[in-house]
Amino acid sequence: MPKLAIDNQQVEVKDGDTILDAAKKLGIEIPTLCFVEGRPPQTSCMVCLVKVNGRERLVPACATKARDGMQVESQTDQVRQARRTALELLLAEHVGDCIAPCQAACPAHMNIPLMIRQIAAGDTRRAIQTVTRHIALPAVLGRICPAPCEKACRRRNKDAPVAICLLKRCAADVNLASPQPWLPDRKAETHKKVAVVGAGATGLAAAYYLQRDGHACTIFDRHDAPGGRLRYADSETKPPADVLDGEIDIIRKLGAEFRMNAEAGADPAMEALRRDFDAVVIAAGKSAPDQAERLGLPKTDAGIKVDSHTFASGVDGVFAAGRAVRARTSAVRAVADGKAVAASVDQFLRGQAPAAPPRPFSTHIGKLLEGEIDKFMEGASPDAQQQPAEGGAGLTEVQARSEAIRCLHCDCRKADNCKLRNWAQAYDAKARAYKLPRPPYLGCETRHPDVIYEPGKCIKCGLCVAIAADAGEQPGLSFTGRGFDVRIGVPFGESLADALKTSAADCVNACPTGALAFKDGAR
Ligand code: SF4
Ligand code: SF4
Ligand code: SF4
Ligand code: FES
Repeated sequence: MPKLAIDNQQVEVKDGDTILDAAKKLGIEIPTLCFVEGRPPQTSCMVCLVKVNGRERLVPACATKARDGMQVESQTDQVRQARRTALELLLAEHVGDCIAPCQAACPAHMNIPLMIRQIAAGDTRRAIQTVTRHIALPAVLGRICPAPCEKACRRRNKDAPVAICLLKRCAADVNLASPQPWLPDRKAETHKKVAVVGAGATGLAAAYYLQRDGHACTIFDRHDAPGGRLRYADSETKPPADVLDGEIDIIRKLGAEFRMNAEAGADPAMEALRRDFDAVVIAAGKSAPDQAERLGLPKTDAGIKVDSHTFASGVDGVFAAGRAVRARTSAVRAVADGKAVAASVDQFLRGQAPAAPPRPFSTHIGKLLEGEIDKFMEGASPDAQQQPAEGGAGLTEVQARSEAIRCLHCDCRKADNCKLRNWAQAYDAKARAYKLPRPPYLGCETRHPDVIYEPGKCIKCGLCVAIAADAGEQPGLSFTGRGFDVRIGVPFGESLADALKTSAADCVNACPTGALAFKDGAR
């Protein structure tokens, strides 16, 4: 029974155990990619390196037996740098987008490809759930959003972008027209009260998410009816009043209370709001600078000065967002601000310091090389973009399904559970640390009912090859090519369905990246 020390902590393990086993016993986390519990080590990724005293080179923890008297260091600068280098070398050969270009361009970061897959499957109910996770007023925005997502859509490389905005509008309209429009579940009541000053896009979105989080919002606005510029602006790009009212009704059903004809910050006075509510969100557009003065908040030329990540003003419990803090803003930016400020207020009300979520690690394919768009087009509908009927109509559900199958599914189905992405984030690895030309995009094998294989995301760990072989798969998977061109593939050009008849799910679960993933993104 060897006794060893890792980071000066003593531990005793069984004969034959590895340094990785010993670290687990101590609760010390060592990154792994090519190793899964219960299988022999593959020792290909080298992200599990540790320092063993007396040895000149770092050793892989997953494959090095624990010995009596060993002194192991797992967190030194040298070890961390070596792991970062191992990750960056893997990423230098990687071709994939963690987040699709459309989603990256959306100010609200809506999961557009997921919504599109749900619409393609005829499941508008789930599509509206996906949309409203990030966008509170989808039927409104489906009509007036300038659609920065469509400007970034990869399908433009072939013909016209996917009509993302019209797809979102279709899902929202179907929901609003249904006998029982979908209402999100509310978290348990917190008994915290929030005053939202201003019932425009930002205030409505903030109230929507705060109600979902279990808080009780009262929305004050100087007009007769809620909506702000969405209702009262002197512009042609306003949504129809019945659509706006339909979405406001959902916020009402979530429990928000509206007090109209209340001059923001004067009736009731801002001091009274701070006294009677646990938090105040100022989303009152142009009148915000006056409130800033009354509150003694610092101002900028654009409006109230707030922390750009959390929207917290200098005054405890007072937040401001949207046109209250920006000189100009689009409707989608205003709605995105409403969600972001709600997240900060929620943290504040739960006794946490408001903090923006860390920016996730992301790899990008970037500009396509010549001919690559044709690889992306494999499996997508070649049809032209669907056009709605004249007169401001949206897409019908049938048209929406036809439009949805034009999508190239540029996102990664394992973005939320990819070990490579998670460790790259934890080790601050750079996706393009080495200024090498990007390898070409190799397409996506989709000929399996449940699973896809994207060779550009494969780190050639060999786990899937071994798992398929152990399961007796014929032909299974194998390494093909030589040297730098070695790849994992299905021999003899057969399909993934032929290769993985029984072990597909095991291979997906073991695969440390999005190279093998379930089509629907499920774990
Ligand atoms: S495999 Fe991982 S790192 Fe690569 S695109 Fe997918 S989530 Fe990002
Ligand atoms: S093709 Fe689909 S996933 Fe790709 S950018 Fe366009 S909408 Fe997004
Ligand atoms: S596809 Fe196979 S070889 Fe490639 S990363 Fe996934 S498990 Fe490893
Ligand atoms: S070499 Fe140890 S996990 Fe890959």
